[in-house]
Amino acid sequence: MCGIVGYVGHRDALPTLVSGLRQLEYRGYDSAGVAILDEDGLWIRKEVGRVDDLARSLDGAPRSQVGIAHTRWATHGGVTQQNAHPHTDGVGRIALVHNGIIENMVPLVAMLRAEGVVFTSETDTEILPHLIRKAWRGDPVDAVRAALRQVQGTFGVAVMFADHPDIVVVARNGSPLVIGLGDGETIVASDPQAIVALTRRVIHLQDRQMAVIRADGAELHGLYDGRRHDQSVELIDGDYGVADLEGHPHFMLKEIHEQARSISRCLNGRVSREDGNARLGGFEMRPRELVGVQRVVLLGCGTSYHAGMVGAMAIEAMARVSARAEIASEFRYRHPIVSNDTLYLAVSQSGETIDTLGAVQEVQLKGGAVRGIVNVVGSTIARTCGQGVYLHSGPEVAVASTKAFTSQVAAMLTFTLMLARTRNLDLGQGRSVAAELLAIPEKVAALLANPGPIDDVVESVARARYVLFLGRGFSFPVALEGALKLKEVAYVPCEGYPAGEMKHGPIAMIEKGAPVIVVAPRDAQRDKVVSNLREVAARGARIIVIHTQGDDELAQLADIAIPVPSTPDWASPLLTAIPLQLLAYRTGIALGRDIDKPRHLAKSVTVE
Ligand code: M6R
Repeated sequence: MCGIVGYVGHRDALPTLVSGLRQLEYRGYDSAGVAILDEDGLWIRKEVGRVDDLARSLDGAPRSQVGIAHTRWATHGGVTQQNAHPHTDGVGRIALVHNGIIENMVPLVAMLRAEGVVFTSETDTEILPHLIRKAWRGDPVDAVRAALRQVQGTFGVAVMFADHPDIVVVARNGSPLVIGLGDGETIVASDPQAIVALTRRVIHLQDRQMAVIRADGAELHGLYDGRRHDQSVELIDGDYGVADLEGHPHFMLKEIHEQARSISRCLNGRVSREDGNARLGGFEMRPRELVGVQRVVLLGCGTSYHAGMVGAMAIEAMARVSARAEIASEFRYRHPIVSNDTLYLAVSQSGETIDTLGAVQEVQLKGGAVRGIVNVVGSTIARTCGQGVYLHSGPEVAVASTKAFTSQVAAMLTFTLMLARTRNLDLGQGRSVAAELLAIPEKVAALLANPGPIDDVVESVARARYVLFLGRGFSFPVALEGALKLKEVAYVPCEGYPAGEMKHGPIAMIEKGAPVIVVAPRDAQRDKVVSNLREVAARGARIIVIHTQGDDELAQLADIAIPVPSTPDWASPLLTAIPLQLLAYRTGIALGRDIDKPRHLAKSVTVE
């Protein structure tokens, strides 16, 4: 989603800003812009499309040692050059970029219009430079503070001033900003990814903080009370920098193929075959505390929610602890009951999803304990939770999440083993669970080396008016995930459904030849799924089945059968999801889609 970069320092700002924007491209955006200074004041360029389009428009740009830049993902107003950031005040001396949403836009616009302000865009953001101008008494920090006091909603902003060429003022309430401290230069961005090429010494701006950024560092203040705040400078580690395609045509395919390694990185050092147990140090939970857990609630969105569903089922089945997954955007506003005997787990690849963060904050506000299961090191959710585990998947660049899903499931199964060992799992059972888990990377590698007849499915799925994904038990979240991938990457109308529920409605959608993809590993529910498969087959559906290798009886019932290696039911999503990821990818290719940056989507969803 929207990205911010700002720079003050000794070098020409523009190349640094543009390369910072390139590092943020993976997040998803539809237009980009930059503001620097020339001798007359602000010099601004904005373009609809890619950062490359913006870069092409920068010929003849002046040299400036200060600047701000932005990638926009439209929320208020269409995808147009006027709506792209930066936005300016009426006299063109203040430029601002903004992530977030201003919720009291309507009264603020009315007030400013009544005072004669002319708006040149349809955005909520444009309100801000006008409010800063209105509050202007000669001090940039006071003016930004006075303006932001009137604003409800979420924001991360970076502001530059033609009359104060040595500073950028930034402020945060709900949208992340990280300040990077270089040698005689300071960079600010909404994501450390845009900073690490310059420095790894950073200050994470907190909510309700603002900072004045100069070449020689930053000065932090309370956003509303103006009090000077101490700085806490951290050294960021972790995998940053634009990942390399390493010969793959797309990041999605590369990331699908990384899964044997990423799952193994997630399990290594945590799951012990010998002890028949697991250890998640970051959870900071001793067996005594684990025994006290009466309930587990997993919070997430999209793919992370699907992974949470798998986790909840595993926790109930193996540890016999009541567990459920919740869609974070629903949970946070439901006035949920939060109790001390419940463990909350926030599941997120990016660690920046605003709804998951909101759910975490709601739990914390009500006195609950939340641990993170997060991929991006140092991200807002990881920091807000304080305790938790990292997935160690490495950067996931493609908007469609693949390796993060399997690593999230692997991390939750690791936790499940730990929890179950404090209860009903004995050493022998623990050892066999650990062995099955540790065997997964090899099975994933074998499956990826020989993924079966997926290409035979692509043509009928690509031209289908409707595709149905079915599964029961552990395969139901996989069916949801398969459908989500196909929508995201190929834009094919489809849905995932519990196989047993299908005849209560969706079966009406089945036309002759409609592809129905049945996820049916050999598990406790397999025979029931076979009945559902027969029900859709009887209505002319073209049956594609994902089945356990050797289950020939099931394979023979299908038009196309895709085998996966055998594994216990609780681990099956780690295998059955993979052919569905490949199917979405190859269908997207067949339809000529923009695989890594599908339309309208963002990698990191930082608005509600
Ligand atoms: O970064 P998160 O895991 O919190 O993101 C949650 C969803 O936005 C994300 O999983 C989304 O559904 C993906 N595009 C799915 O491929």
